[in-house]
Amino acid sequence: MRLLSKPLGALSRQRRRRFAPMVLLLVALGLTGGAYAAFAPSPQAAAATGASAQTLKDGRDLYLRNCSSCHGLNVEGSSDGPTLVGVGAASVDFQVGTGRMPAAQLGAQIQQKRQQFTQEEIQALAAYIASLGPGPAIPSKDQLDYADADAAQGGQIYRTNCAMCHNFAGSGGALTRGKYAPSLQGVSPKHIYEAMLTGPQSMPVFPDTTMTSQDKRDIIAFLKTTQTEPSPGGLALGKVGPVTEGLAGWLLGLGGLIACAVWLGAKAR
Ligand code: HEC
Ligand code: HEC
Repeated sequence: MRLLSKPLGALSRQRRRRFAPMVLLLVALGLTGGAYAAFAPSPQAAAATGASAQTLKDGRDLYLRNCSSCHGLNVEGSSDGPTLVGVGAASVDFQVGTGRMPAAQLGAQIQQKRQQFTQEEIQALAAYIASLGPGPAIPSKDQLDYADADAAQGGQIYRTNCAMCHNFAGSGGALTRGKYAPSLQGVSPKHIYEAMLTGPQSMPVFPDTTMTSQDKRDIIAFLKTTQTEPSPGGLALGKVGPVTEGLAGWLLGLGGLIACAVWLGAKAR
């Protein structure tokens, strides 16, 4: 009964001292929880592509009808296709926008076909896939504006990073095991940017961290310049390199000379 013998004020002060650490702990826990709730990504924030619930639902319906047979009912992937969680909107926009997906048949390299969805449907699909996990977004108008990009600089970056597969003028070329790097003629700036961002099939990924957005615009400017550039030397012969040029030289040049010689010889007789 030592406590009772003490005055009331002293008792509560002692208790207060004992509870103080506990109260402090509760307050700290409350603050941490509050801060977490305020800053953690909520399910809605995960869909921060600006897509409405209706768009996400449309995207999911389109996905289930056209893609789930290979990529899985829960986008988890199957033996016929990889999981799409985390590939980002840019990958979907590229794959579906260029007509690669939905894949018609699986082979050494999935072929490009006529693109079969409207732009709205592609956007819904992309928004749905992007809502499942973070990945590269579809490049914005500013990112694609190559009006004052440096084509000469772009040519240099292109020759270091892309020409070994796509040829020095973007005419494309063969790779090993039945694969090939396609021609880059007539590919839209958006799809060029997205290809670099996502690295389809055997192409490496060039994320913005290693190849800046400006570098990518420079490359696009270079590719667009080579496509519109006149060919002062005569026929461009598909710009596929010295082999075709040599072949044309031998067949037309040497062949012409031989034909002349034969004709002259025949006349002399
Ligand atoms: C016939 C099976 C098949 C169908 C149907 C199909 N895909 Fe694919 N998809 C594949 C395969 C296989 C790959 C992997 C290609 C590779 O990288 O070699 C792939 C890759 C992809 C990628 C690239 C993933 C990455 O890593 O960047 C995206 C995006 C994609 N598919 C989206 C779709 C969408 C959207 C649909 C429906 C409109 C669809 N696919 C339908 C088989 C399929
Ligand atoms: C290792 C070889 C390789 C390198 C290096 C490479 N690519 Fe590719 N690229 C490919 C292959 C293979 C494809 C076809 C992928 C597919 O069909 O899914 C491709 C596809 C593309 C496409 C899509 C073309 C279309 O018709 O839709 C673009 C655009 C592209 N590459 C641009 C680039 C650029 C720009 C660079 C350099 C920054 C580059 N690539 C570097 C192999 C390569």
